[in-house]
Amino acid sequence: MKGKRIILTGAAGGIGTHIARLLSAEGARLCLTDINEQALQDVRQALGRDGVHTVAANITVADDRQKVVDEALRELGGIDILINAAGINPFGVFAKQDPGLIQKTVEINTLAPMLLARAVLPSMLEQDSGQIVNIGSTFGSIGFAWFSAYSASKYALRGFSQALRRELAETGVAVTYIAPRAVRTAINSQEVYEMAEAVKMNMDEPDAVAEQIVKSIRKGDKECHLGFPESLFVRINAIFPGLVDRAVRKQNRKAHKHAEKAG
Ligand SMILES: NC(=O)c1ccc[n+]([C@@H]2O[C@H](COP(=O)([O-])OP(=O)(O)OC[C@H]3O[C@@H](n4cnc5c(N)ncnc54)[C@H](OP(=O)(O)O)[C@@H]3O)[C@@H](O)[C@H]2O)c1
Repeated sequence: MKGKRIILTGAAGGIGTHIARLLSAEGARLCLTDINEQALQDVRQALGRDGVHTVAANITVADDRQKVVDEALRELGGIDILINAAGINPFGVFAKQDPGLIQKTVEINTLAPMLLARAVLPSMLEQDSGQIVNIGSTFGSIGFAWFSAYSASKYALRGFSQALRRELAETGVAVTYIAPRAVRTAINSQEVYEMAEAVKMNMDEPDAVAEQIVKSIRKGDKECHLGFPESLFVRINAIFPGLVDRAVRKQNRKAHKHAEKAG
């Protein structure tokens, strides 16, 4: 990663902070962005080195996205990798969910990564090299009850990644989709943690997940599903969804009361 010019969204988040730390330690040139300016400054200060640029931005706002890309081009002199890691993860009963939150979920998790990719692609195609990295989720391959909007947003992100990868196959630009299973970060509400305990959901630590993400980026993986047995369930769900319907019925019932509590 030494010398690579990288935009990272969600850089002040649980996983993003660790991705930033690992890339910085390898000597990457970073343009870190997140919605929370103070948190972003804290991340930069903790990295304690030159070559790290920060831009506070709401990635659902067109002017903000343009600002991120323009500043990366100006400060770093180009863009080699875009990592779309910002996201939100609302948990609850879909029929009761705030319609605005459903819209926001798709805007942040799907539309903004697509539009950021659209914004960086012309310069990547011109230099005939680059990598677009989209952080998805196991729930982007296994539709998960009480995470309907989130699952939909990550399914769409996976579909976008696959189609764009095929579209760019004859160019020097690669597309990598990486899907972690549950991770212990602030994206998950108290209700999610209680539900996860009730259904014995596996949860990874963000530093370990960030290490796997950076490894997968370096290898240039097309699609990478983190965690076992989740990576196996992804394959089973793709071929035998009816089998998974039956297997998760009991778990869904247990999770329901936590989803009701979440609202
Ligand atoms: N943690 C998990 O269980 C898990 C599992 C699978 C996949 N993932 C995926 O991994 C990625 C990183 O998640 P994480 O666990 O690190 O979550 P996180 O700690 O909440 O980090 C996400 C970051 O994105 C920022 N963000 C939210 N909306 C934004 C917007 N409109 N514009 C710019 N930044 C925005 C958040 O800022 P604020 O906090 O200030 O809103 C936060 O700093 C996400 O794409 C998530 O879907 C997470």
